[in-house]
Amino acid sequence: MLHVTSLTKRFGDKRAVDNASFEVGKPTMIGIIGRSGAGKSTLLRMLNRLSDASEGSITFEGAEITTLRGAARREWQSRCAMIFQQFNLVPRMDVVSNVLHGTLNRRSTLATMFNLYPAQDIHKAIDILDRLGIAAEAPKRAQALSGGQQQRVAIARALMQDPQIILADEPIASLDPMNAQIVMDALRRIHEEDGRMVIANLHTLDTARRYCDRVIGMRDGRIVFDGTPEQLTTGVARDIYGAGADFSEAATSTAIETLDRPNAAPVVPA
Ligand SMILES: Nc1ncnc2c1ncn2[C@@H]1O[C@H](COP(=O)(O)OP(=O)(O)OP(=O)(O)O)[C@@H](O)[C@H]1O
Ligand SMILES: [Mg+2]
Repeated sequence: MLHVTSLTKRFGDKRAVDNASFEVGKPTMIGIIGRSGAGKSTLLRMLNRLSDASEGSITFEGAEITTLRGAARREWQSRCAMIFQQFNLVPRMDVVSNVLHGTLNRRSTLATMFNLYPAQDIHKAIDILDRLGIAAEAPKRAQALSGGQQQRVAIARALMQDPQIILADEPIASLDPMNAQIVMDALRRIHEEDGRMVIANLHTLDTARRYCDRVIGMRDGRIVFDGTPEQLTTGVARDIYGAGADFSEAATSTAIETLDRPNAAPVVPA
């Protein structure tokens, strides 16, 4: 499905992403981990074409993505929706309108100016909010919601585009452990029930292990690990984070581990 080959992003002399290659054969939930500055966000931004690659190739279902321009690029961006740590909602706008923003790509300027949405889109938005457990919040302003609720609104906005891929850049980094779990559960469910590929940058190891089928570890722009959560031992993690023997997993951990999650993958001992 997705082939990333020798992907590189240069900022001056700095290689933010350096010769990264990986393939995804079927819709998978993938976690990308690595210390701050490793290149995780840059990689996601290139996948989504928010940022242009300096070198290398991205193909999806055989089509080259890195060279798409104009309408074709926008079409790609709606097939791989992106969600962000800071939700990127319009705070003063109501929840439903925020979700309907996910259809902007295919609406006319005039319809957008007058805030005209087809009834079927409004129904779809409410259905998606309902699925995420926040239909009751639909008429409220986005700013009146908790962080976890706002992130679910952002997920709803992404789902409005019916994307094949959801890219999530630190989706739970601003949330408390309870809300982090709700949001990760929602992403996992969307992956399992809809068969969408999810690629999430995660700043904690335990979340990546717990929710993802596959983990990619980045260090200094390079992919230094690509495997299953079971293969991600403490030794491997130490290498990814470039830490010494005093490396403690707790340093990359949230309290999410202490919350119960049925059917959770077992955590691999050191
Ligand atoms: N627009 C830019 N201009 C110059 N350098 C940049 C730019 N964006 C990112 N970088 C650099 O590229 C490297 C990778 O940054 P990136 O944001 O991808 O890291 P990250 O793994 O997402 O880190 P974090 O965990 O802090 O979000 C860093 O050294 C960063 O300073
Ligand atoms: Mg980042």
